[in-house]
Amino acid sequence: MYLGLDLGTSGLKGVLIDEDQRVLAEASAPLSVARPADGWSEQSPADWLVAAEAVLGELAAGPGLGALKGIGLSGQMHGSVLLDGADNVLRPCILWNDTRAAAEAASMDADPQFRAVSGNIVFPGFTAPKLSWVARHEPEIFKRVAKVLLPKDYLRLWLTGEHVAEMSDAAGTSWLDTGARVWSEALLAASGMRIEQMPRLVEGSEVSGRLRPEIAERFGCPRVPVAGGGGDNAASGVGTGVVRAGQAFVSLGTSGVLFAANDGYRPDPATAVHTFCHALPGTWHQMGVILAATDALNWFARLAGREPAALTEGLGALTAPGKTRFLPYLGGERTPLNDAAIRGAFIGLDHATDRAAATRAVLEGVTFAIRDCRDALAATGTEISHLIGVGGGTRSRLWCEMIATALGTPVHLPVAGDFGGAYGAARLGQMAATGGGAELAAPPAIAATIDPVAALTDAFDAGHARYRAAQAALKDLT
Ligand code: XUL
Repeated sequence: MYLGLDLGTSGLKGVLIDEDQRVLAEASAPLSVARPADGWSEQSPADWLVAAEAVLGELAAGPGLGALKGIGLSGQMHGSVLLDGADNVLRPCILWNDTRAAAEAASMDADPQFRAVSGNIVFPGFTAPKLSWVARHEPEIFKRVAKVLLPKDYLRLWLTGEHVAEMSDAAGTSWLDTGARVWSEALLAASGMRIEQMPRLVEGSEVSGRLRPEIAERFGCPRVPVAGGGGDNAASGVGTGVVRAGQAFVSLGTSGVLFAANDGYRPDPATAVHTFCHALPGTWHQMGVILAATDALNWFARLAGREPAALTEGLGALTAPGKTRFLPYLGGERTPLNDAAIRGAFIGLDHATDRAAATRAVLEGVTFAIRDCRDALAATGTEISHLIGVGGGTRSRLWCEMIATALGTPVHLPVAGDFGGAYGAARLGQMAATGGGAELAAPPAIAATIDPVAALTDAFDAGHARYRAAQAALKDLT
């Protein structure tokens, strides 16, 4: 059996699979986000370890981990775990959706070598500008930084005692030469950093280390290999079998992602599309990322005093987008805007706007933001003919219908089960333990295909045009 651990933003999840990749057991533990100032988003790495202990404890007590052969890791990307020389955590982790480093990101992005070497815009949520922010605002901490780890790689340090990163997550730091798959000493130097502060790099399907004896003993398992794993999106690509050109998925999680596998390295930073290494050797992927997908629905649900599922259930059939428009920029936006200062809006409210109409507007707004990502990917020449849907938001059939119709692309929903980061990580664990590769990343069986509603295509095109007009108007309002 193989275990995948996915360190998400709202929780840590473990999925145990057998040799045939059937899910044997799942466990999860919740996590919360601290927002101590406008645009800030932090978590304490110690909380991740508490969550990992809970998940491993539950799996050890349930099915048991005695037959475990390998572990893979997946995790929220871009966060900065700062360690001193004795591996003590120096400050809370600054997360992927934190935009405090907007000024530092803009000044790095103005240095042409960052886009040329990393293949991407330096977004405020990426790791390098966070370190510049710490250097400027917390110089005493910056001076003590001996290692910078990405979130799941801190979990790896606890599990194996090794400082290791893998390519897909490293590509989101702005320090990787993404085409060559090595740390760029030039980009590190331009950030005031040194190569010794970086973890060793492996591929996602390679062995990164072995479980520490204390951990193995405590949870009753052998000292199995831990795979490099992947950033949560690349790991989801492995979980959904999106590993070759022509395959794509849409993820409706805290963030929203439209992800396409590529046959080579095809950077196009001007589009605000992200071009990262995939989790398998010699492969890359592109994706458009929006910062709030289910996060936007959860925000509205808190405001409305209802559970998100209660809001979306009973909304009825797909209809043409209404007058009310919602722009989901609760914490700024990445693709296609690269704008940390823009904020969300409801537009076109009237006396008839009730809770149901506002909920529809929220789902439509996120849908149109995903359509923007599709248009950005298309501008790089990447065409998407069908999509696999993953993430909590795909439990709403209506939301999937909106996405299928707004993108003109069928959305395939896998059979019951979560084929996201944790499942993909388990597959990477299996690859590392057995020496396997892409043949262990087949697409999942499909339970349902949501087709575009052709009669509403024009209405969704018009709705998207109104959304774009609102976006243009909003850009200058802060
Ligand atoms: C990707 C990104 C998010 C996080 C969410 O660039 O920032 O999708 O990985 O966990």
